[in-house]
Amino acid sequence: MGWGGAFGGGQNSTQANRAAGLPFAGIPPELLARVKKIREREPEHPEPDIDFRPDAYDREPFTLWRFLAPHRMGLLTAFALVVVATLASLAGPRLTAWAIDHGILKNDMDVLIWCFVAYVAAILVSMGASYARIRYTGRLGHKLMYELRVKVFSHMQRLSLDYFTEERVGRLITRMTSDIDALANLFQDGLVNLMVQGLILIGITGLLLSMNVELALIMILVVVPAMVGLTMWFTRASDKGYGVVRERISDVLTDLSESLSGIRLITAFNRRAHNVIHHRNVVGDHFRANAHMAKVGPAYSAASEVIGVLGRAAMLLIGGNMVAKGELELGELVAFLLYLTMFFAPIQALTQLYNTYQSGNAAVKKLRDLLGTRPSVEQKADARELPPIEGAIELRDLCFGYDDAKPVLSDVSLRIEPGETVALVGPTGAGKSTAAKLITRFYDPQQGNVTVDGHDLRDVTLESLRSQLGVVPQEPFLFHGTIRDNVTFARPGAGEEEVLEAVAAVGLDEVVARMPRGLDSPVFERGASLSAGERQLIALARAFLARPRVLVLDEATSNVDMQSEAHIEKALDNLLGGRTAIVIAHRLATARRANRIAVIDDGRLVELGSHDELVARGGFYADMYATWSAGTNGQG
Ligand SMILES: Nc1ncnc2c1ncn2[C@@H]1O[C@H](COP(=O)(O)OP(=O)(O)OP(=O)(O)O)[C@@H](O)[C@H]1O
Ligand SMILES: [Mg+2]
Repeated sequence: MGWGGAFGGGQNSTQANRAAGLPFAGIPPELLARVKKIREREPEHPEPDIDFRPDAYDREPFTLWRFLAPHRMGLLTAFALVVVATLASLAGPRLTAWAIDHGILKNDMDVLIWCFVAYVAAILVSMGASYARIRYTGRLGHKLMYELRVKVFSHMQRLSLDYFTEERVGRLITRMTSDIDALANLFQDGLVNLMVQGLILIGITGLLLSMNVELALIMILVVVPAMVGLTMWFTRASDKGYGVVRERISDVLTDLSESLSGIRLITAFNRRAHNVIHHRNVVGDHFRANAHMAKVGPAYSAASEVIGVLGRAAMLLIGGNMVAKGELELGELVAFLLYLTMFFAPIQALTQLYNTYQSGNAAVKKLRDLLGTRPSVEQKADARELPPIEGAIELRDLCFGYDDAKPVLSDVSLRIEPGETVALVGPTGAGKSTAAKLITRFYDPQQGNVTVDGHDLRDVTLESLRSQLGVVPQEPFLFHGTIRDNVTFARPGAGEEEVLEAVAAVGLDEVVARMPRGLDSPVFERGASLSAGERQLIALARAFLARPRVLVLDEATSNVDMQSEAHIEKALDNLLGGRTAIVIAHRLATARRANRIAVIDDGRLVELGSHDELVARGGFYADMYATWSAGTNGQG
């Protein structure tokens, strides 16, 4: 389904997008009226044909040609306009020659006037066609960019988590900003201008040959080899330079985004001055890369100018001699010189365009890499909908590592009954969060499998799986918006009562009551304006409101005070009633309440049983528990 359906469809589109496994859940009903108005005002608003299904990425690599192919007709129209404009502009010197040879030298006023009229008409036609072409390609370019941005963004939404772990945000932002801008430049003046200038060159060469073969051949033999040599040097120098410039832009954005997200830490550790110096170096490298390019361009321009002037001077000498001998008409010599001037303008322009072309091409390569990246967690083509589950989860001989060299989980087998709460405990880095990520299929195991109610996670659609799982990650993330927006994130349509119930259930109501605007108080990016405990409460309320069959809580209560924790524990008892829950906790008070406790150490399941059983066994857990209770008793 394309975006058009999403715009018009309201409720249906929401479902369709959900079915597509993407967070874009349609336009909220309250905004539909405004959207309709905007659409009426902008009837041509382009609707790119983007398929949101998780497996709808392009199988073919992204190339300029493949991207442009659907707009063949538009580009042909632009090309036709270019041909008209070029032919009209090439008429000028020919008409001048005619006016001199047949009007001025023969004293024929009529010819002169007709030449004048034709000249003005040619210029008007040329300008009109150029204007139409620039407007047309401008619009086409914007439309193409719009489509490309949506395409790239929806592909990013489709990629798996490992991609975002390894790619730096700044680089991804570069793809969406300067790379796409470079492509936009290529469309708007680049491609078509390249055609214009190429056509002018060919046209002039043809005209020169038609006027006087000898002179034209002399000119071509003198000027062309010099130009070709110079141009080869230039393209080689700028090819290298442009790759570097694009790399540096991406470094600048990467450093910027990291500095901005780490600003608190940077301030705390007095790294602001150091950071400025570092950023200055990064920006300095960018500057140097550009400065290098700024040297190459003008050197080429100046050298080609010199070749042009020398060429014209030679023409004046040789052509003047021919006129004196009566082998050439005076008007033709003038036309020759005028065409020669026109001959060099496109060459100069081509250097500029070559830069645009290079940047655009580099951008295409980067985008091809991005768009060619397949999600590592792929939905099978014949994936089934996961029916409403009871919540039996089984890990079978699970082996997993983020990279093949270093196993993180080895041979973990664990069956969790529907409605059971299992706590995962163990030392830092043991692999608890990793196990949780495998249960929610953020990653696929290298060996073994995870099943829910007997369905292998790899056989069911991602959407139907995740809609039945609720996750509170170890680092809860809040979006810019209000507390309400964040709580209703997984179920935007939830009623007020349900929201209040979820808020009360986790004890968030006390926090909200303290806020001036209650549930509608703003939450800034990443929840920077809230305490860590408050953020966790919101994340909990969010998971509860989603009413999943299976809940995964990763240290969900690690940042709240003892009292809130006690409150949440009670709420958990209510809310977990009948649900399967995997609770990861360092605080053993939380773990103790689970039906069973799984102890994970160094990626292996070392003990499994109820709190009492494990304490009685006197193994790993008993030690942990002894240390922990000594610590809390000592403090309390
Ligand atoms: N995205 C990742 N890429 C590579 N290695 C990772 C990644 N995430 C975690 N690891 C590694 O996997 C191991 C297990 O990490 P995991 O987050 O599962 O630990 P944990 O048991 O949850 O620890 P904690 O109690 O500190 O949360 C660690 O050694 C960690 O360095
Ligand atoms: Mg963890």
